[in-house]
Amino acid sequence: MKTKLLRETFERARTENGGLTSLGMRFYGRLFEKYPAVRPLFTTPPEQQHKKLMASIGSIVAAVENPEALVPFLHAMGIRHLKYKTEDAHYGAVAENLIAVLSEHLSKEGEWTEEMKDTWQEALKTVSSIMIEAATNPQLYKEELLQTGYGADGFRQNDPEPWKIREAVTG
Ligand code: HEM
Repeated sequence: MKTKLLRETFERARTENGGLTSLGMRFYGRLFEKYPAVRPLFTTPPEQQHKKLMASIGSIVAAVENPEALVPFLHAMGIRHLKYKTEDAHYGAVAENLIAVLSEHLSKEGEWTEEMKDTWQEALKTVSSIMIEAATNPQLYKEELLQTGYGADGFRQNDPEPWKIREAVTG
């Protein structure tokens, strides 16, 4: 995977066209417009939810070359999504939506290329399959979750922000 390109594009997303707030708000605006069936799953308002999503993507991008930290983080996140009533089929919609809004966002001040699209598609496919695998077989990940500080439900005690990778693991 072109990890350097992934980092560079996310770094641009932070600074261009109103930054991650505008990207994140557009993500939920477009998601609910294009996939109205998922709207009822969300109870947290987009103004707060988008910060969590963007922080999780920031953590993923930062740890992309550090699978020992990233993979358990994604397993925990996939298992937390069981509580949110997420279905496997929704992952394609979320990835399509993220790539569409990222493309709009980065095209405003600079370039969005096929290479960037392919890189993000590959990254989101990998992330989704790791999350889905854990959500499908949560019992297989109990031990790993415990060892990496998560509960069996994917949450961490005393951690109000489980969508961020902790410690110096992100380098
Ligand atoms: C790339 C895959 C995804 C990532 C990185 C992601 C990230 C997040 C994060 C960071 C949260 C905050 C809570 C937590 O961390 O436990 C969250 C909550 C949530 N996600 Fe996802 N998610 C993904 C896929 C999906 C999909 C496919 C759906 C299905 C529609 C979905 C629906 C939800 C819902 C309903 C919540 C709870 C919102 C609330 O509090 O009201 N997510 N997600």
